[in-house]
Amino acid sequence: MSAVHRRDGELWMEGVRLADVASRFGTPCYVYSRAAIEGAWRAFDEGLAGTDHLVCYAVKANANLAVLALLARLGSGFDIVSGGELARVLAAGGRADRVIFSGVGKSEAEIRAALAAGIRCFNVESEPELERLDRLAGEAGVRAPVSLRVNPDVDAGTHPYISTGLKGNKFGIAHDRALAAYDLAARLPNLRVTGIDCHIGSQILDMAPLEEALDRVLELAAAVAARGIPVTHVDVGGGLGIRYREEETALDIGRWCAAVGRRLAGTGYAVVVEPGRSIVGNAGVLLTRVEYLKLDKDRRFAIVDASMSELIRPALYEAWHEIAPLAALDRPDAVYDVVGPVCESSDVLGTDRRLAIEAGDGLAILSAGAYGMAMASNYNSRPRPAEVMVDGARAAEVRARETIASLFAGESTLG
Ligand code: LLP
Repeated sequence: MSAVHRRDGELWMEGVRLADVASRFGTPCYVYSRAAIEGAWRAFDEGLAGTDHLVCYAVKANANLAVLALLARLGSGFDIVSGGELARVLAAGGRADRVIFSGVGKSEAEIRAALAAGIRCFNVESEPELERLDRLAGEAGVRAPVSLRVNPDVDAGTHPYISTGLKGNKFGIAHDRALAAYDLAARLPNLRVTGIDCHIGSQILDMAPLEEALDRVLELAAAVAARGIPVTHVDVGGGLGIRYREEETALDIGRWCAAVGRRLAGTGYAVVVEPGRSIVGNAGVLLTRVEYLKLDKDRRFAIVDASMSELIRPALYEAWHEIAPLAALDRPDAVYDVVGPVCESSDVLGTDRRLAIEAGDGLAILSAGAYGMAMASNYNSRPRPAEVMVDGARAAEVRARETIASLFAGESTLG
């Protein structure tokens, strides 16, 4: 489930004891396993080996340069949603011709930067965006490669905040408008239609909605081709769910790749996948330390030094992350709500957890490699934590903890 294991009562990641990481780099602190990240990426690459494919890691899940550089070295492509992510990918050694640009609100500056870099494809989400892209490509003297993100109107059966494939949400071009949008794209002189794409949501644990979406997209691709508009690739998005708790079963990467391969066999399309969470989610943990046990209320609180500022998923999506002591120590156990120091009742990392802990003990919040640091904020003027990459027996800081001074370095008073 997670990239950590217990040995003699202590929690380890690869050949590194996490208690040592906590002492050396301080808490809160994110820690990622190189082997776990590379292993998950390879599961996609090998799973699709029989099909012309490109695995485009969804940068939004974890945009640390060290993560991107590992994947770039493996030959990964990247799914980006901003000019900031493009800059990160290029800085990490990623190839522009393996970058696809998703997102509903690409600005002119972002589109210009992506055209100048020479990315592989723009995943366009609306007709006005097609027109903007055509104009900017004309100004740059290039033809922009375009795929249309269609909304297949399939219920991914996931949390409503991370569901994107239904009619009523802002993503994609409605299924019944897709052909008209392709006609427009084909007419615009500075665009070159290359593909079709969809992404129906995240943390999907059942393969059926993903398969249904793919079938609908393939039907549409055939209808587009019948109008004389050639589609050369099909982008099936990301969304594969991981295992956060023991009783869950992750969506199996190999099975999903096999299902995609079967459907694409004989079509001549290349396939693009955009996994984020399933590559980094289980590869990371957030280390924290117990500040106080507060036992004077109806509930018992373990107040720790991480909070919703560092990991917002429990507060925002009621997400469940396993919380495990770094060492199994001889302590009385009790049921706690594990909460942070931030002044919000929603600043909860886990409720009703049976833990044998005392103030000062270290804890790991598991499966925090995706949408953890990437969604961290400075709320309550908290510096964002350090990030550490483990590689065998080595632990290297890949992002320094922010300093308090840096939090207001760009601010000034009226004077
Ligand atoms: N492609 C597109 C167009 C996306 O919007 C996303 C995620 C992905 C790929 C990658 O999806 P993944 O394989 O990671 O499921 N913050 C939320 C998740 C938001 C996902 C947004 N889009 C969370 O913490 O659960």
